[in-house]
Amino acid sequence: MSGSVQLAAVHEPNRKSIPVSDADISYLERRYVNDALASGRVSSGKYNRLFERSFADWSGYSHCVATTSGTTALQAAIEALDIWPGDEIICPALTFVSTASAIVQAGARPVFVDVLEDGCIDPALAGRAITSRTRAIIPVHLFGVRADLRALAALGQELIIDAAEAHGVDNAGHTACYSFYGNKILTCGEGGAVCTDSKPIADKLRWLCGTCQDPDRRYWHTGIGHNFRMPHLSAAIGYAQIKRAGSLIGRRRDVIRWYRERLPVVEPAAPWVASIHVDDRDRVVAHLAQQGIETRNWFYPIHTMSPYLSCDAVLNGTAERLSKTGLILPLSSSMTRDDVTRVCDAIEEIL
Ligand SMILES: Cc1ncc(COP(=O)(O)O)c(C=O)c1O
Repeated sequence: MSGSVQLAAVHEPNRKSIPVSDADISYLERRYVNDALASGRVSSGKYNRLFERSFADWSGYSHCVATTSGTTALQAAIEALDIWPGDEIICPALTFVSTASAIVQAGARPVFVDVLEDGCIDPALAGRAITSRTRAIIPVHLFGVRADLRALAALGQELIIDAAEAHGVDNAGHTACYSFYGNKILTCGEGGAVCTDSKPIADKLRWLCGTCQDPDRRYWHTGIGHNFRMPHLSAAIGYAQIKRAGSLIGRRRDVIRWYRERLPVVEPAAPWVASIHVDDRDRVVAHLAQQGIETRNWFYPIHTMSPYLSCDAVLNGTAERLSKTGLILPLSSSMTRDDVTRVCDAIEEIL
């Protein structure tokens, strides 16, 4: 999330500050990490397999290939399409930059499409962006809000879902990419994954992410690949998080419900962040920061940033408008009802 706000050094000395997100690490993560360390296998080991199997099952897929980040998961999933120079991939204009940078890194050209009021790609505009060079559409479940996959699938293009912010959301069987960065619903510290129901795609992803080594011949490489493999210690953390997913997500849903009793916070399909829109955002942000409450602004539209100015785009101004008012409030499973009351009181004061 962009627009990080420094908390006032001394807000109110007796009140704890409320971070915008806070990883929930229990004895279980520590136990598995210690076990992984004790195994002596620090690069890859049994937790890689446990993580991949349990995340695939939990997400409703047959296969999961774990990676170093959500960004590399996206890049590998796009490269698995066999991209040729000039190929285009459609993505929303409003998203974290990795959705677009992964397209470029994979050798294709991003085509930006504006979003609906919920922040997700507009299927009607996406239809207008399709050309003979289009290879795929990457819908993003922005801030945990589910993109309209049914309408997008009807456009007849391959869908690769950017579900970095939406663990547990139904992707209707389409290949999906996840992030396990520290602020995500489930975290590994840094990590990512691609989930798919296709064995050939899973095999190709594993090959691409493992330096394109021939599975039957060590040090023999049959393509130009990457080392995008998730480290064993990260997989150990992630496996514990998947085991705790029910309680982590349940608590996050409680926090969103408490917010919604007071504020027009959106109820996302995946409870990743608590998001509202405010007109005088800088004033609200400064007031909250003064009270020790951290926030984040919504992302900047990608097509407005210098590396992407020359990309093709189908726009109607919605991404730019939403980006100016969107505000992310603190959300983590460690938050209490009192914390939520403090945030809501502070917002009501300033508004
Ligand atoms: C929508 C979206 N896509 C991709 C990513 C990239 O994930 P990572 O930070 O793990 O590389 C993020 C990340 O935070 C994201 O929010």
